[in-house]
Amino acid sequence: MKKPWGGRFKESTDQLMERFNASIGFDKKLYAYDIQGSIAHCKMLAKCKIISVPESKKIISGLQQILGEFESGKFQCSDALEDIHMNIERRLLDIIGPVGGKLHTARSRNDQVCLDVRLYLRAEAKEILSRLHEVEKTLLAVAKDTIDFIMPGYTHLQRAQPISLSHHILAYLEMLHRDRDRISDNLKRIDIMPLGSAALAGTNFPIDRSYVAKLLNFSVVSNNSMDSVADRDFMIEFCSAASILMMHLSRFCEEIVLWSSSEFDFIELSDAFSTGSSIMPQKKNPDAAELIRGKSGRIYGNLMALLTLMKSLPMAYNKDLQEDKEPLFDTVDTVKICLDVFNGMIKTATFKKIPEKNMKSSGFLTATDLADYLVLRDVPFREAHEITGKTVAYCLDKGKNLEELKLKELSKISSKFDSKVFEYISLENSVDRKNVYGGTARNQIKKQMRRWQKILKEEK
Ligand code: ARG
Repeated sequence: MKKPWGGRFKESTDQLMERFNASIGFDKKLYAYDIQGSIAHCKMLAKCKIISVPESKKIISGLQQILGEFESGKFQCSDALEDIHMNIERRLLDIIGPVGGKLHTARSRNDQVCLDVRLYLRAEAKEILSRLHEVEKTLLAVAKDTIDFIMPGYTHLQRAQPISLSHHILAYLEMLHRDRDRISDNLKRIDIMPLGSAALAGTNFPIDRSYVAKLLNFSVVSNNSMDSVADRDFMIEFCSAASILMMHLSRFCEEIVLWSSSEFDFIELSDAFSTGSSIMPQKKNPDAAELIRGKSGRIYGNLMALLTLMKSLPMAYNKDLQEDKEPLFDTVDTVKICLDVFNGMIKTATFKKIPEKNMKSSGFLTATDLADYLVLRDVPFREAHEITGKTVAYCLDKGKNLEELKLKELSKISSKFDSKVFEYISLENSVDRKNVYGGTARNQIKKQMRRWQKILKEEK
């Protein structure tokens, strides 16, 4: 097949080289953006009198026909035409004849492909933001329902202090909202119009780049033609934000896996988002959570692939850059499905109230409160810590928990204890006394929930 760039070649391309060089297998995903960009470019060429209006009309109707062919699955892609850009251009020539060859005036595939991926990523980043918003709303709803669910808070995966489950959930809402901010911020750097940079130096033709930007709804036009065609940092930034997001989802999923075990028994996942075992009939496995945790690895891998791809590329365009698309597409597709599955899994899960017996029987969750009680009786905190440590050791010896001790026993350890101590170290009082901004006191949580309610409403 004759190549669009075939003029200076005497021999035809080796079949192996043709297959190796082709990106159409994956960049056909960009067809709609490529056509959208070409239509805008064509309108601009006519406006600037570089081509005539009748010519531009012919080109645009040809492009629209091609769009229809893609949408109805009729378009025949060919490896010999390398990529989405040349596949579309060749088809345009087939449909409207040689005038189709005018479309590529003042343009190179180098700026064209940048335009396509920017259009693609702008749309997909917005899509991801809206899915993230759904997840945030789900978390807020769970937080509302679970404010009275007192559970152990952990450090080192050892029981530490009692907290409200809401507080735990809202911690993830904070993380995911920062992810949202990162992607929104990234959008500013995606939303830059590169067309007009041509191969690397700009173009000889008197084009109107701002007009193209306006037609395609871009906020700004790129400032340096070499940077425009060579840079992929907007993608790396996206993959980095996606990696952080997946890291957050993965942490939560790790907890879901733990919590749904009989050892923890804090959550029951719905049948709809669980799977069974082909050998063990009793099993109900948290595969959704495990897969999200697992998929975070490939998202980090995609980020690493892009960073490594770029690290030694001389200016400006190099064919290496064709390798940017698969990691980017995979990141977008994976993040989207992970957000949807995560949302479904959380929405349909049952969070369980942890029996008080379980909370009291191990871990000495209110030991810090016991120490603080002594501090209120003027014992320096370090001493209070020591006394409480001794109390815990005493309990361990006797096989008791703190609440089961008699005042007589406590008084032997320190004369500062009195009968009010037991109320002070109740789980509920312990939670509600953390009444500092950002603390787990239910008062504070309610304040935060009101804040989130407002933020999530405003941002939709
Ligand atoms: N398929 C190519 C890519 O994805 C398009 C740009 C090709 N440019 C070139 N000078 N060969 O990067």
